[in-house]
Amino acid sequence: MRLTLKIWRQKNRTSRGQLVTYQLTDVSPDMSFLEMLDMLNQDLAHKGEDAIAFDHDCREGICGSCSLYINGRAHGPLRGVATCQLHMRSFEDGDEITVEPWRAKPFPVIKDLVVDRTAFDRILQAGGFVSVKTGGAPDANAIPIPKAAAEEAMDAAACIGCGACVAACKNASAMLFVSAKVSQLALLPQGHAERKARVEAMIAQMDAEGFGGCSNTYACEAECPKQISVAHIARLNREYLRAQVV
Ligand code: SF4
Ligand code: FES
Repeated sequence: MRLTLKIWRQKNRTSRGQLVTYQLTDVSPDMSFLEMLDMLNQDLAHKGEDAIAFDHDCREGICGSCSLYINGRAHGPLRGVATCQLHMRSFEDGDEITVEPWRAKPFPVIKDLVVDRTAFDRILQAGGFVSVKTGGAPDANAIPIPKAAAEEAMDAAACIGCGACVAACKNASAMLFVSAKVSQLALLPQGHAERKARVEAMIAQMDAEGFGGCSNTYACEAECPKQISVAHIARLNREYLRAQVV
């Protein structure tokens, strides 16, 4: 495949960025999108040019590091697929592909396609955990959990913290991410002890980081690589309301 790539290049947080055009030939349809970028970086290295910075780690759709806006879509054209699991067979020979970083004020660009997502870490540090009492591990069946609740909690736990929901939202809202983390713990008895404090602290941190509010466009659910449901946002709202009255 022959491709024309328009890639966002930005030296650092404060400099002005721009789209730079690159031509790439001999791209295999079986390559992943990130392997295609590796190939481009190899070409740049051979020419003595600065490689394009982009985030990646597991390359298996697990870690949430990969984060590219591809032709105006978070994680590219496929639904329920992270950038690292996108393959070049999803594009046509001769295509022009525009690659940009997440665009949201709470995720400032560090370099090229890499953004600072530590705002998510701070939201998790505010309440996305259960306190652990030391002692022997409890018997696996000691705390019965209804199957439906366990499955819903597992669905919420599938969130990989990539930030596509924020990037896709016109308000840069982090509600889908926060709702997945709150749901996961609110649905399980282990999460009940800190239920009230958790939702209040996580929402306060979300607001402090500058994320916007939800206006129900559902762009987050449409672009989420783990297809986290907006039903979790409704649970987040209920949890928050409950915390105000109990
Ligand atoms: S809710 Fe989806 S899009 Fe948002 S951070 Fe989690 S996995 Fe990524
Ligand atoms: S690199 Fe880990 S999810 Fe894509």
